[in-house]
Amino acid sequence: MATLAAPDIQIDSFLEEGSLDSMAADIRAGLERRPKELPPKYFYDARGSELFDRITEQPEYYPTRCERAILNRHAPTIVELTGARELVELGSGSASKTRALLYAMAGAGTLERYVPVDVSEAVVERSALELCELYPGLRVHGLVGDFERHLPHLPAGEHRLFAFLGGTFGNHFPEQRATFLASLRELFGSGDFLLLGTDLRKDPAVLEAAYNDAAGVTSEFNRNVLRNVNTALGGDFEPEAFEHRAVFDPDASRIEMRLVARAEQHVRIAAAGIEVHFADGEEMLTEISTKFTPEGLEEELRTAGLGLEALFTDEDGLFAVSLARPL
Ligand code: AVJ
Repeated sequence: MATLAAPDIQIDSFLEEGSLDSMAADIRAGLERRPKELPPKYFYDARGSELFDRITEQPEYYPTRCERAILNRHAPTIVELTGARELVELGSGSASKTRALLYAMAGAGTLERYVPVDVSEAVVERSALELCELYPGLRVHGLVGDFERHLPHLPAGEHRLFAFLGGTFGNHFPEQRATFLASLRELFGSGDFLLLGTDLRKDPAVLEAAYNDAAGVTSEFNRNVLRNVNTALGGDFEPEAFEHRAVFDPDASRIEMRLVARAEQHVRIAAAGIEVHFADGEEMLTEISTKFTPEGLEEELRTAGLGLEALFTDEDGLFAVSLARPL
């Protein structure tokens, strides 16, 4: 653990050595499943993050725009309902969304501390510096780590608003979501709140269009996981030999992104010590993106001991930002 000190800024890092070993283990485990899987967290190297930013600008991809509109509009209400003095942001990439909340907290005179949590040290440092400059007197205590494992290292606090935005919650399977919510609940004091961004269930045509943009950016993003495996682990995937596919599964209520082998092929991944066979047309799961109903959300929260206090949507009811607190 390293601590970097500057005026009003503390950053604790829990990134382990051997992250390549754990990536190799993840990839190996995923490719041993049937159907094969690659974990979505490996989309996001520098190129993947840039491609994701471009996805958010596509006309078909509404979630980011909707969530931003919701926060811009309802941040003052959220701050009033919570009395939050501290913003803990899980996955802190989203500066402009964060700002709406911090701005409202500053306006209400309650803003004391910002706690960004992200796996990228650069992201945590950048947001710490930017926001300190914007809000003189703001204390920042960043945590570089994985919010599934390092939440116990959060600084103690009260009147905290934990923001988990962007719809990332929906990229997890139901059991993982339940575990995550329960571990958050465990951490919460009676004055703490959760602000959760999730996409909503809607016309499958709208959903599928959002994950099959006409410009093909999502297709590039999907295949980027193969490039990333190649670079990080010495793989020889041919990204062009796989086709992007995104379909809505109404039973599981989720978009499933897959990569489909265009022909039979063998792939070697040196640092994972594996050679993998793909049949012609074989599908590999790269991401799920769950689409919730308000009732379903309320139920998942309640099961974890959290009560839904308010649910905000955009004008068209496409996306939801939920506010919950310990029951
Ligand atoms: C931002 C991770 C929630 O699931 O919609 C966008 C990622 N994948 N297009 C989502 C994503 C394909 C996105 N998350």
